[in-house]
Amino acid sequence: MKPALIVHGGAWDIPDEAVDACKSGCRRALAAGWSILSKGGNALEAIEAAVMVLEDDPVFDAGYGSHLNRDGRVECDAIVMNGATLRAGAASTLQRVKNPILVARAILEKCPHMMLVGEGAERFAREQGIALCDPEELISDAGQEAWLRCRNDKHAAEHHRGHEQGTVGAVAIDREGNLFAATSTGGTCCKLPGRVGDSPLIGCGCYADSEAGGVSCTGYGEAIMKIVMAKTAVDLLRESAICMATGAGEPCGVSSGQLAAREAVHLLAKRTHATGGLILLDCHGHPGFAFNTPRMAYGYVALDGNLVTAV
Ligand code: GLY
Repeated sequence: MKPALIVHGGAWDIPDEAVDACKSGCRRALAAGWSILSKGGNALEAIEAAVMVLEDDPVFDAGYGSHLNRDGRVECDAIVMNGATLRAGAASTLQRVKNPILVARAILEKCPHMMLVGEGAERFAREQGIALCDPEELISDAGQEAWLRCRNDKHAAEHHRGHEQGTVGAVAIDREGNLFAATSTGGTCCKLPGRVGDSPLIGCGCYADSEAGGVSCTGYGEAIMKIVMAKTAVDLLRESAICMATGAGEPCGVSSGQLAAREAVHLLAKRTHATGGLILLDCHGHPGFAFNTPRMAYGYVALDGNLVTAV
């Protein structure tokens, strides 16, 4: 099977001055993942590599440079899901981990449970050989400045470099047909300590089923949870696959993946009046994406092997 990869750096009101940085971050993430997939490597390795690039880049709200919570600390969530087994590994409210995707993967592969939070997750991470850092090391100058302005004034989007919901994610399929999806986030700015958004919740911020496709979401977590957006999009992919197989689908020039992505974001707007976006691969590796924010940072590997990025 031909491998496929799609990544995102969040759907938000990306200001003009951040467009180049977002595109370049997505390009580097694609390059990291594709260097593994194109050589026959595993989809899990590829999305881990891609998400780590995005987590390390402070232009995105994940890992280093994440939004700060009300107490002025970074608290990160991440998930990775295996489409073959439907097993996920998720970690939430991490305060001492540079790359939360590593903890999610360790939970996926080495833990009897599917989700760990807070201190328990960090203890498990350390036991698995993942280094813990000083919480201060996750705070970027821009994140700190935004938090100080909020504290001294009032919480307002303009204090946050415009990246109010710049979650990151990736979906990949490898030559063997293994499908994995992942999402990583610092959550929302000035959130209450202990708040968990959609991102690490199976079916909300991420879902993968090899029979239909894989999805990673971005946007306002409290709304995305209401419509279980990632699973909703995968269900739409499954329905369109059935339509194609039975000949009931009408060819309209738009891929079924693209239609599923649009329909899920339409449902988000209709039922919650919120904004967000998602990326997906259907089970054949065709990409899809949609958002109802002014912009979304995303990228995918085109059929000819070129890395396509857009904001
Ligand atoms: N979508 C990220 C969050 O709300 O935490």
